[in-house]
Amino acid sequence: MDPITTTSQASASSPTIHPGLEGIYFTETRLSHVDGQAGQLVIAGYPVEEIAPKATFEEVAYLLWLGRRPQADELRAFRADLAARSALPEVTVDLLRQAAARELAPMDALRLAIDSLALADDTELAPPSTLGVDGLSLSLLARAPQIVAGYQRLQRGEEPAAPRSDLGLAAGFLAAIDGREPAPERVRALETYLVTVCDHGANASTFAARVIVATRSDLLSAVVGALGALKGPLHGGAPGPALDMVFEIGSEERAEECLRRKLASGERLMGFGHRVYKVRDPRAEVLALAAERLFAGGTADRHLYQLARHVEDTAIRLLDEVKPGRNLRTNVEFYTALLLHGIGLPTDLFTPVFAMARTAGWIAHCREQQAKGRLIRPSSHYVGARDGRWD
Ligand code: ACO
Repeated sequence: MDPITTTSQASASSPTIHPGLEGIYFTETRLSHVDGQAGQLVIAGYPVEEIAPKATFEEVAYLLWLGRRPQADELRAFRADLAARSALPEVTVDLLRQAAARELAPMDALRLAIDSLALADDTELAPPSTLGVDGLSLSLLARAPQIVAGYQRLQRGEEPAAPRSDLGLAAGFLAAIDGREPAPERVRALETYLVTVCDHGANASTFAARVIVATRSDLLSAVVGALGALKGPLHGGAPGPALDMVFEIGSEERAEECLRRKLASGERLMGFGHRVYKVRDPRAEVLALAAERLFAGGTADRHLYQLARHVEDTAIRLLDEVKPGRNLRTNVEFYTALLLHGIGLPTDLFTPVFAMARTAGWIAHCREQQAKGRLIRPSSHYVGARDGRWD
């Protein structure tokens, strides 16, 4: 018999356990503020609903990394530096080719490809920058979209397209997927998405990144770790399943019966509930408005938008009924799904596109952690046996 399982449990007095660390503040930050009761998100000083419809992704990356809005000439230099770094090293393209041959999920291919950047020599990986940001950060931000787009093309049996140095990150990403310049309304919708989700307090993937650099490990390791954390369906993996759910429901008449069945079988409704927000996630509103603008032209998409609104209302009503007092409300992922679908992106790219955006936030948090952070090392309360014998 195993002596470990037969002996008595620990007798030490029990500390208070915070299993998901909710309500625990481990650092101060200037990057973003999440108010879960008021439903507010502030990104580096700007309310999300103010900044997301107007700013470009590069402007907000600059804001997060350097603490202020860029002047016009600074933004030009920032964009030029990113453009100069966007081509993928051959070793990364080779790896993506192998990943496509094995039909790896795009998120796994992205994680491998980001790690493979370490195989490029230093001049290729991170030529120095004069912008006050390290070269690796810029290379990661510039290359993540090219990895995601290039992998999408390889999966379709096409070669990755050469990056367009005349386009910004959002437009360049869409051009790299389609091989042609995207319509301005698709670019604006994608900019709005990337800005909306670029940072969000001490979320799981950002925390993972901060834990990694807090050990004085390197930025590339932190981004790879963060990608692993983002992928899970309780975090960044939800929008694909959220859209699948809307398609499965198919019509307003079927919504209640279908959602009731899911809840009765113990399924979680993807795109609802949040660890911090107990009211509607403010990002859901920003993305819903962007989707509404994008869909205004097309009848099919308008129908999908109306269906999504109906599914949202029904889901909230049923969640209140089935999980009273939990305040499960719409989170960012529900309208992410609708907006990215409207932009024309396939479902399996939703989480990688989220990762492209959050790379800006992860790097900003790593910089903050490296500047003043302390090794992150919480405690666990041992409840196992203590008197085992190894005879
Ligand atoms: N559908 C049905 N029930 C839910 C849902 C949901 N979407 N979310 C939570 N619940 C239930 C739980 O089962 C639990 O019920 P119980 O108390 O009867 O056991 C109760 O509500 C509380 O749930 P917790 O797990 O304690 O909530 P937590 O704060 O840990 O979870 C989370 C937050 C993971 C986002 C959860 O709401 C969820 O799984 N949502 C669906 C997945 C999703 O949309 N993820 C994206 C989140 S946004 C982001 O990360 C970018």
